[in-house]
Amino acid sequence: MRKLKIGDVKLKNRLLLSPLVDVSDLPFRLVCRKAGAAMAYIEMLNISAILHENRHTEGLMRTDKRDKPSGIQITGRTVEEFEKVVPYVENFDVVDINCGCPSIRITDNGSGSFLLKHPEKIADMVRTLKDAGLTTTAKIRLGFKENNVLKVAKAVEKAGADAITVHARLADHGSDVPADWKWIAKVKHTVGIPVIGNGDVWDGPGAEKMLDLADGAMIARASIGDPAVFERILHYLKTGKEKEFDARKNMKIFLEYLSLEKTNGADMGRIKRVCSKFVRGFGGAAKARDEMMKKKTYDGVLSFAKELRKSV
Ligand SMILES: Cc1cc2nc3c(=O)[nH]c(=O)nc-3n(C[C@H](O)[C@H](O)[C@H](O)COP(=O)(O)O)c2cc1C
Repeated sequence: MRKLKIGDVKLKNRLLLSPLVDVSDLPFRLVCRKAGAAMAYIEMLNISAILHENRHTEGLMRTDKRDKPSGIQITGRTVEEFEKVVPYVENFDVVDINCGCPSIRITDNGSGSFLLKHPEKIADMVRTLKDAGLTTTAKIRLGFKENNVLKVAKAVEKAGADAITVHARLADHGSDVPADWKWIAKVKHTVGIPVIGNGDVWDGPGAEKMLDLADGAMIARASIGDPAVFERILHYLKTGKEKEFDARKNMKIFLEYLSLEKTNGADMGRIKRVCSKFVRGFGGAAKARDEMMKKKTYDGVLSFAKELRKSV
């Protein structure tokens, strides 16, 4: 399979796990990497939260040698913030700038997808990180309310970014609007840096189509509760044959994830949100999910999951 390189960072294949708020912590990244994701990002962090050095954000920034190449995604409002954050993120292999988050909390602050209105500002942010010697990428959408993706992509490239990820929706498009992949192809024809396509990749055939258009495929929702989607996609890309979802295997990965969460601080809110997604694909899954959500402690969830695994 063709390889993907982001700056000097070589990826073992062309599949990437998206940054995912409340999901892509170290344990989740590790199980996705084990299943074959070549790259996995820490969820979007606000630069102001990083600069405040609060414990929660520091916990989210945790990484280790299994989490390589490491990737962090940041967003912010001003170029000055980007200058200040350099010492906090310089040890990551890749630093991605979020220019796509549509949450009002983020856009009201002038960051996330709001930045798409100001391509030159994004370019200055990229330049700031590049001048500091960081491997820098940007994850964009097609536009804020109007499509200006080619303009933004050109500005990002001109500023020296090492790659660009295109989530092929406008910022005000929900996930019910299909991602419009023709714009990923247009960006690919417009810029010379690697283009990673994102939006609605769910399986091997989808990933294959995306990889015909782009240099990499970034996967978000398909991985939540199903990290083995990476393995199935890689199998398809190699053999042309689709592998079925395997509920038993998924439960095994679920237990691995839970055990990693134990050493990661076991935040119950986060664990439960992610855990409920793992319980699927077998008779009685909905009932089991409801039962599991009633557990109040980490150990409660763990013993429930262990029992469940025996019956799947
Ligand atoms: C729970 C959740 C959290 C997300 N968090 C982030 C994030 O932190 N940064 C980001 O760039 N995109 C985030 N996204 C958007 C995804 O990365 C991705 O762009 C989008 O879901 C489309 O890809 P998909 O069709 O593979 O899900 C999030 C999406 C979901 C569902």
